[in-house]
Amino acid sequence: MTSGVTSDEYSVRVATSDDWDHVVSVIAEAFGEAWENDVIDNERSTWEPERTLLTVSRDDVVACAGVFTRDLSVPGGVLPAAHVTLVSVRPTHRRRGLLTAMMRRQLADIRAQGEPVAVLWATEGRIYQRFGYGLATQKLALEVREARLREQPTAAEGRLRSLSPSAATELLSKVYEQVRADRVGWSSRDARWWGYVLSDPKSERDGATPLRVLVHEGQSEVDGYALWRVKRNWDGTGPKGQVKVREVVAVTPEAYRSLWRFLLSVDLTRSTEYWCAAVDEPLLHLVDEPRQLAGRLGDALWLRVVDVPAALAGRRYAAPVDVVIEVTDALVPENAGRWRLAGGPDSATCTRTDRPADLACDIGALGAAYLGGAALTTLAAAGRVAVPNPAALVPASLAFGWHRIPSAVETF
Ligand SMILES: CC(C)(COP(=O)(O)OP(=O)(O)OC[C@H]1O[C@@H](n2cnc3c(N)ncnc32)[C@H](O)[C@@H]1OP(=O)(O)O)[C@@H](O)C(=O)NCCC(=O)NCCS
Repeated sequence: MTSGVTSDEYSVRVATSDDWDHVVSVIAEAFGEAWENDVIDNERSTWEPERTLLTVSRDDVVACAGVFTRDLSVPGGVLPAAHVTLVSVRPTHRRRGLLTAMMRRQLADIRAQGEPVAVLWATEGRIYQRFGYGLATQKLALEVREARLREQPTAAEGRLRSLSPSAATELLSKVYEQVRADRVGWSSRDARWWGYVLSDPKSERDGATPLRVLVHEGQSEVDGYALWRVKRNWDGTGPKGQVKVREVVAVTPEAYRSLWRFLLSVDLTRSTEYWCAAVDEPLLHLVDEPRQLAGRLGDALWLRVVDVPAALAGRRYAAPVDVVIEVTDALVPENAGRWRLAGGPDSATCTRTDRPADLACDIGALGAAYLGGAALTTLAAAGRVAVPNPAALVPASLAFGWHRIPSAVETF
């Protein structure tokens, strides 16, 4: 254990299924909130005790950190990715190195599990950068007021239908799977995760309606859906309801347009909120007044490259690339050193090399660039990527990019 943590006072162990109440209690205290029973049950449904670390002090569980086992879409492929979650330290034990000790152990466990990358959502960005996480995806929070679609509907926009969430899982999953592989930053969802996404605990509705499912029927089948709800509001001037959009997933442009036409014009509402829009959300190009989307940029997925050669060879590149990158990694020494990355749109290899470095960066900057979100040129402008061979920067930066900006579809 590290900084300030003595092994006499604290020990780290793997949770068992009997530890759920401990986890709930630590999270409630650390986050300053109390989950209702419906949330507790829902969170438990995806919990993986065997991948949860607990820090114990004199028989008390005082900290925890967990992982969900899911896949992540990366440029040109899908990789196993540790989805880090439940990170909490009781306020009475904070700033003694407990998180640091758990992060070190967790990284070693993730490597042993064979997951080349780890991802997480951060309550505060400053927490995880010291552990090698980089800002890999961003999101837009939209608050749409006076915007409508530019064009009138056409017959090609098909038909919309409302479904109850419990009847919708199979249809939604089929649409999601068609879209997911091409949306870098999206996570796999098995039946357990669909149960979680659609469970809709009452105590988390914040006064809005239950979750509604809208599906779009194209030529022959369902090819798009939206998850949404309405928060009712009236004042002396009339209705002022709000549409709250959870996710919009569409296989075709017609489905996408039709779903958004609906979501921007629900009777008795005056605004539409979408908290997790992509930075390159097509809606920006569909509306008559893009400024009215009032997009606020925020951080989404933070990514940690856990195994450099497996991660770099596990994605594809937008253009041919042959570059030597020198990586520093204070926590995972196996990642440190010079790596030759050779690849392109169809294949990639990454091997240790003695050749001189073209580019040099720490593992956090590599994490920021990994999904094609932060350009290597941008990171170089920030001084996060050093460029011993200036001719290598632009070709490598173009190769690391991708045809869509990475996005995130859900928190976990
Ligand atoms: C964030 C949290 C897990 C940190 O745990 P911790 O055991 O206090 O962290 P550590 O003692 O290992 O801190 C390691 C370093 O990170 C810094 N750090 C940790 N959390 C920080 C924060 N929120 N803001 C600024 N610095 C932070 C510490 O100051 C320390 O710096 P140092 O090495 O220079 O001294 C804990 O404060 C917590 O539970 N917060 C509320 C819940 C939360 O936000 N969880 C994260 C979910 S994504």
